[in-house]
Amino acid sequence: MASSSYYGSLFLLLLSLFLWFSTNVLGGNFNTLFDNLFGEERVDIKEDGNSMTLTLDEYCGSGIVSKNEYLFGRFDMKIKLVPGNSAGTVTAYYLSSVGAQHDEIDIEFLGNLTGEPYLLSTNVYAEGIGGREMQFYLWFDPTEDYHMYSIDWNPERIIILVDNNPIRVMLNRQRIGVPFPTKRPMRVYTTLWNGDSWATRWGEVKIDLTNAPFVAGFKNFNAIACIANQGQTANCRNYNGGKYKGLDRESKRKMKQVLSKWVVYDYCADLRRYAHGLPYECRKENRIQLD
Ligand SMILES: *[C@@H]1O[C@H](CO)[C@@H](O)[C@H](O)[C@H]1NC(C)=O
Repeated sequence: MASSSYYGSLFLLLLSLFLWFSTNVLGGNFNTLFDNLFGEERVDIKEDGNSMTLTLDEYCGSGIVSKNEYLFGRFDMKIKLVPGNSAGTVTAYYLSSVGAQHDEIDIEFLGNLTGEPYLLSTNVYAEGIGGREMQFYLWFDPTEDYHMYSIDWNPERIIILVDNNPIRVMLNRQRIGVPFPTKRPMRVYTTLWNGDSWATRWGEVKIDLTNAPFVAGFKNFNAIACIANQGQTANCRNYNGGKYKGLDRESKRKMKQVLSKWVVYDYCADLRRYAHGLPYECRKENRIQLD
C-alpha cells in the first residue's frame, strides 16, 4: 500500500517535472536560442553566447529572432544603447507573431542627438490592431551601462519593466471586447535599424551616417516562458510565468513614480486623437489601480 502510493507520487513528480521542462526554457544563450534575422556578420555573438552586439552601418542594420515560439512568459534582456549621436537609429526588443491578425509587444528605443534623451516607446498589438503607444524618457543614461528591460506576459496582463520597475501594465479585457494576445505564440526579436523616416522628432532629425557604425550591446537574455512551437499551444493555456503574478505594493509605488515623472506620451490620455471617446481599455475600471 504505502510503497505503491510512494511510487505513484514519484511518478507524478517525474511526470510534472518532464512537462515543466518540455514547456519551459530557462536562461538564454544567443547561439542556441536565436537565428540571424538580417545583417549577417553585423550580429556578433560573444562569451559563448552570453552577450552580443548588433551593428548598423551605412549599408544595413542587424537583428536576431528566437528559434522558439512562446505563448506567455517573462523575457529579460540587458541592453546598452548606441552612444553619442544616435538620432534616427531604432533599437528594438519585442515579441511578435506572424500573419495578418498578428500580436506584438514592443519595446523600442528611439535614438537622439548627442545629449538629447532617448525615447522608450512601447506598444501592444492584438489581433492585428495596434495604436496603443506609451512613451517614456528614462531616469538614467541608457548608453552608459547595461540596464534590464523586461516583458512579462501572461493570460491576465502584460507588464513592461525597466530594471524591475514596472512602467506599463495592460490588463486583459477580452470579456468586454478589447483584443488581447492570448492565442498566438510569439517569437522574441532584437534588432538595430535605420528608422530615420520617423524615429527622431517624428522624422525631422535624420541619421548621420558619418557616425556609422552604430553599435548596441545585449547580454543576459533570460526567458522563463512556455514554448509553443508548431501550434502546440495546449500546454501553455494557463501559463502564468510562476512567481510574477501581479504587482505588489512596492512595485505599484515604483510604477506610480515613473508615471508621474517620465511619461512623454500615453494614447490613453490623448483626447485629441480620441475626441469621440477613449478606447475601452483606457477607462479607469479597466486599468491597473495603483492606490
Ligand atoms: C530627442 O530630443 C528632443 C529634444 O530634447 C525631444 O523632444 C525628443 O523627445 C527626443 N527623442 C526623440 C526620439 O525625438
